Amino acid sequence: MVNNKKNKKESILDFLYKAGGDTISGVRISEMTGISRVAVWKHINALKKDGIPIHSRPNGYALSDPEDLLLPFCFDPPFRDKITHFPEVETTMDTAKALARKGASHLSCVVAEHQTKGRGRLNREWISSKGGLWFTLVLRPLLPPHLVYIYTFAASLSLSRILNKLFNLDISVKWPNDLLLGGQKLAGMLSEMETQGDMVQFLIIGIGINANNSPVNKEFNAVSLKNILKKKVSRKQILTAFLSEFQDKIQDINCPDIIDQWKEQTSTIGRQVRIETFDKIYEGKAVDVDETGALIIEDDHKKLKKIIYGDCFHA
Ligand code: BTN
Repeated sequence: MVNNKKNKKESILDFLYKAGGDTISGVRISEMTGISRVAVWKHINALKKDGIPIHSRPNGYALSDPEDLLLPFCFDPPFRDKITHFPEVETTMDTAKALARKGASHLSCVVAEHQTKGRGRLNREWISSKGGLWFTLVLRPLLPPHLVYIYTFAASLSLSRILNKLFNLDISVKWPNDLLLGGQKLAGMLSEMETQGDMVQFLIIGIGINANNSPVNKEFNAVSLKNILKKKVSRKQILTAFLSEFQDKIQDINCPDIIDQWKEQTSTIGRQVRIETFDKIYEGKAVDVDETGALIIEDDHKKLKKIIYGDCFHA
């Protein structure tokens, strides 16, 4: 784990980061950080083991792709102090939950390069190979439990907006909170909460973005930004833009407002859909999303049905 307390390893990394990918000799790193040359060598090896992409060259060391790094010190305040980074976890959901139980503050963000037990909605596996952007936010909403759904809508709305802006794309949201690009899944979200009595203790929202990974066959109809744009993207740029947009959106959050904006961004309304829940399948035309976030579908007999959860497939 790399958190925001600077140790020797981090000082070396910070130094390499500021060199912006240039090669720096071990002697220079040692002089500038006050760490012995032998210790520099040991720490560099440990950093490589942590999955940090450092290349050893005949004349020194260089970070490859510094703009893609997700380590806390790569971010500006206020997010720098909110991010905890792991090379590998089972799932950022459980890590974030454990931190939340220990008092992690509102908007804390747990990010991992790789998840060995990534989970999706309805208990599905979420394949989380290296290159993707996998993170979970800890939120402490001042709302009763039945209203916290609005945070996930705010998250999918914020994410689709910033990705469209950054990469000039036409991403839509599919009910309840998937991001689609050309009908293929680019990102998914999962939320869980803990309550005590009438109060929300915390809410966690896990977000998986296919960024620089190449989704495999098993991940049915998934696509990554790298696949579409034919080049690597900066995950740091995406996470920074998202956190900033989301923070603004949830300031003085207003449910009808968020739902209205979300509806402008959705490709679900007006489509024939199939909704799978744990025990039922519903089919019909999606005609609306109400102010509680429920999907309203109309069946062949023009009968309306309100669906509060499920997996939605566009026909
Ligand atoms: C879905 O579409 O089924 C939801 C996918 C959510 C995936 C993210 S990746 C980060 C966080 N950790 C997990 O194990 N899941 C969420």
